[in-house]
Amino acid sequence: MRVSEIRDLIRVKPVELDATRRRLSACHDIDDLRATGRRLIPRPVFDYVDGGADEEVSLRANTRAFRQFRFQPRTLVNVSEPDTSGAFLGSVTPLPLALAPTGYTRMMHPAGESGAARAARRHGLPYTLSTMANTTIEDVASAAGGADLWFQLYIQRDAGLNKELVDRAAAAKYRVLVVTVDCFVTGHRSRDRRNGLVIPPELTLSTLASIAGKPGYWTRMLRNPAIEFANFAGHAAVTIEGTGQLFNPAITWDDIAELRARWPGRLVVKGPLGPSDARHAVSVGADGVQLSNHGGRQLDRAVPPVHTIAAVRDTVGPDVAVLVDSGVRHGSDIAVALALGADACAIGRAYLYGLMAGGEAGVDKALDILAAQFKRTMQLLGVRSVPELRSLGPSLLVKG
Ligand SMILES: Cc1cc2nc3c(=O)[nH]c(=O)nc-3n(C[C@H](O)[C@H](O)[C@H](O)COP(=O)(O)O)c2cc1C
Repeated sequence: MRVSEIRDLIRVKPVELDATRRRLSACHDIDDLRATGRRLIPRPVFDYVDGGADEEVSLRANTRAFRQFRFQPRTLVNVSEPDTSGAFLGSVTPLPLALAPTGYTRMMHPAGESGAARAARRHGLPYTLSTMANTTIEDVASAAGGADLWFQLYIQRDAGLNKELVDRAAAAKYRVLVVTVDCFVTGHRSRDRRNGLVIPPELTLSTLASIAGKPGYWTRMLRNPAIEFANFAGHAAVTIEGTGQLFNPAITWDDIAELRARWPGRLVVKGPLGPSDARHAVSVGADGVQLSNHGGRQLDRAVPPVHTIAAVRDTVGPDVAVLVDSGVRHGSDIAVALALGADACAIGRAYLYGLMAGGEAGVDKALDILAAQFKRTMQLLGVRSVPELRSLGPSLLVKG
């Protein structure tokens, strides 16, 4: 058989000349973005994103926990126009999703925090800037003007610095303060220790090998400003392995109450893992909680947050915002979390894999993938809106 004979039966896909677009068009889920990022990025950097604490028990359990639920769908309810929009903490978003804070984001790609925030803006989603960002609070605000920006605070030993950061975020019109409470001592990141991850990178033999193996990454990095802890300029120099010295292991709920009094906007406590700490957060004035085990990067063997949603919702009632992160890799995970009582999910690695695979366009791709998956899951579940998904709730789920 000759090609001319079957030409009318097949369509030849046009060749995409732009390498990034070509790579991204071959990614159909978050795992594809992860695999692409892994090919392009030096091992110590990829592992910094991908890895967890100690034996990575929680890291693995987080994704598995979402997949333990099986759906019990309804059918024949006209799902031609499902409304996927979410409403939480004063945001109305096309999808019940936020971008979680991630430190050192410019190490993955120079687009870094600003690129991720712009992608979030294009998708109408909130972006949370980390205390440990490589771009300043003010620069992200001007690079992504009009985005729904949240600021994440690690409470540090230097009380003056905490106040300065919070005041700068308020002045730059960040809308929500997210206070992380599971990182007063840094977790033991086994892969980082093994890889000797330090900033600036130390030219060990393995670093040199990874430079040779990933020239595109290093060319990009060398053409862009050096990576630094942008929000601490003028304060003590910090290295990636020394960040533990910054955090204050003596913090208590009183510190959250103090921040509550200082911060004019909404306040979320990130890191409770059950009803008792969620109740505490509300009692000191938090508007919401972000159930999280830090993506398995802090206390290894910490419970997957998805398992705590129902009990937390029962405890805090309907008016407190409940967000969930750690392990979200698919739109179906968002549907599971909402059916259990969450208002929204947040993602860390899912968008970082996109950033590593294709910079800002890769973050767009990750968000497109999750949005399409969530919509299709809603349709196949037989639900027409997020409130309907929430009200049908656990009747849609079977523990598999
Ligand atoms: C590379 C990386 C850096 C992170 N940096 C921070 C941070 O600076 N502040 C913070 O509160 N959480 C940080 N986190 C945790 C995320 O905000 C979020 O809780 C976690 O990534 C959710 O799990 P997931 O990656 O499975 O989505 C980081 C996570 C990753 C993967």
